[in-house]
Amino acid sequence: MSFAARTALRQLTRVAVPTARSFSVMARSAAITHVPRVAACKVAFTQTRGVKTMDFGGTKEIVYERSDYPPAKLQETFKDDTLTVLGYGPMGRGQALNLRDNKLNVIIGSRKGSSWDKAVSEGWVPGKNLFEINEACERGTVIMNLLSDAAQSKLWNEIKPYLTKGKTLYFSHGFSVVFAEDTGVIPPKDIDVVLVAPKGSGTTVRNLFLEGRGINGSVAVYQDVSGKAKDRAVALGVGVGTGYLYETTFKNEVNSDLYGERGVLMGAIQGLFRAQYEVLRAKGHSPSEAFNETVEEATQSLYPLIGANGMDWMYANCSTTAQRGALDWCGPFYDATKPIFESLYESVANGTETRRSLTKNSTPNYRAELEVELAEIANHEMWRVGKTVRQLRPENN
Ligand SMILES: NC(=O)c1ccc[n+]([C@@H]2O[C@H](COP(=O)([O-])OP(=O)(O)OC[C@H]3O[C@@H](n4cnc5c(N)ncnc54)[C@H](OP(=O)(O)O)[C@@H]3O)[C@@H](O)[C@H]2O)c1
Repeated sequence: MSFAARTALRQLTRVAVPTARSFSVMARSAAITHVPRVAACKVAFTQTRGVKTMDFGGTKEIVYERSDYPPAKLQETFKDDTLTVLGYGPMGRGQALNLRDNKLNVIIGSRKGSSWDKAVSEGWVPGKNLFEINEACERGTVIMNLLSDAAQSKLWNEIKPYLTKGKTLYFSHGFSVVFAEDTGVIPPKDIDVVLVAPKGSGTTVRNLFLEGRGINGSVAVYQDVSGKAKDRAVALGVGVGTGYLYETTFKNEVNSDLYGERGVLMGAIQGLFRAQYEVLRAKGHSPSEAFNETVEEATQSLYPLIGANGMDWMYANCSTTAQRGALDWCGPFYDATKPIFESLYESVANGTETRRSLTKNSTPNYRAELEVELAEIANHEMWRVGKTVRQLRPENN
């Protein structure tokens, strides 16, 4: 463990540092403004609801909260609806199971094959709540399009005839609609079109729901014909397992999502890890030392602390030696990478990334080609070293 990390941990044991939980409680009590409004729904749901306007670093944003949409209210909201989840990949599965556990009327639309078989193994019954895609679309009033993004484009002409007046079309990514010129997905004008994008994988959506917690998500309305699209979108978001919902637009959701995964979430981080590791190796450091100083200490020690407390806290709670160096070197890294982030955003916003994804992921042998590229990463010395280092973690002994 480096000096920086040791110092941070020492500080942690010495000072009563607020945990992520107490931080969020503090932030809530300091920043939340409750704007009460009475639930529009009659009968059992006359309790006061709060739409929260929260201060995010000086900018006010609206946040919707799961506690305002208890299961009984969801059941009332969708009592006349059939929710059709298209696709039983990670996202379709997670959202459909959560809707089912919330006792909503949900059915699956899937082609026969691995997704269909998985659905059957998890209690969905062919002819009752599991159908081929066309039939599921016909039966549904809310069509939740959780097919892969490439399939949403490919099957659009099959799905579109079932999107009749009064129905709702739902997505978990703005991809298909925002880049309609490339995907061909142009919704009919007389239906509501909404989005709920959980901030994580479908597996996390399900697991957090089972733990009694909700994943964060964003919510957007593309077309509001009924006048109720926003409220129904938020209710759907809670139904599929989100805890807090942040407002966005289809365009901002897809641009930030594609940008983030190509940037700091995946692409940039792999590039930085690899560059740092290879320089250490070239300068004579052992594989274990290069890996520990690049990946292991980051993911096991510093990143969780940054996640809990912020980078400002991390800077304030490391040794003065680490502080000096990090203060001096963040500038050159910022200068070197900002132009790359600028061109990445442009590539996302002008549709280049979408076209590339649709083209590459639609070729007949796309899976085999992808495997070759993924194997290059897996076979790089750094990630082979990682396998050994992980075995030596205290919890694995
Ligand atoms: N906002 C977020 O954080 C987030 C995170 C993850 C996903 N998403 C979005 O959620 C949606 C679904 O994601 P996912 O990861 O679950 O997708 P996925 O695993 O790639 O695919 C989902 C489903 O699409 C089906 N499918 C693929 N090609 C098909 C075809 N030609 N005909 C019929 N069915 C086909 C698959 O069936 P087979 O098994 O039969 O191939 C599978 O059931 C996407 O829009 C994605 O962008 C959002």
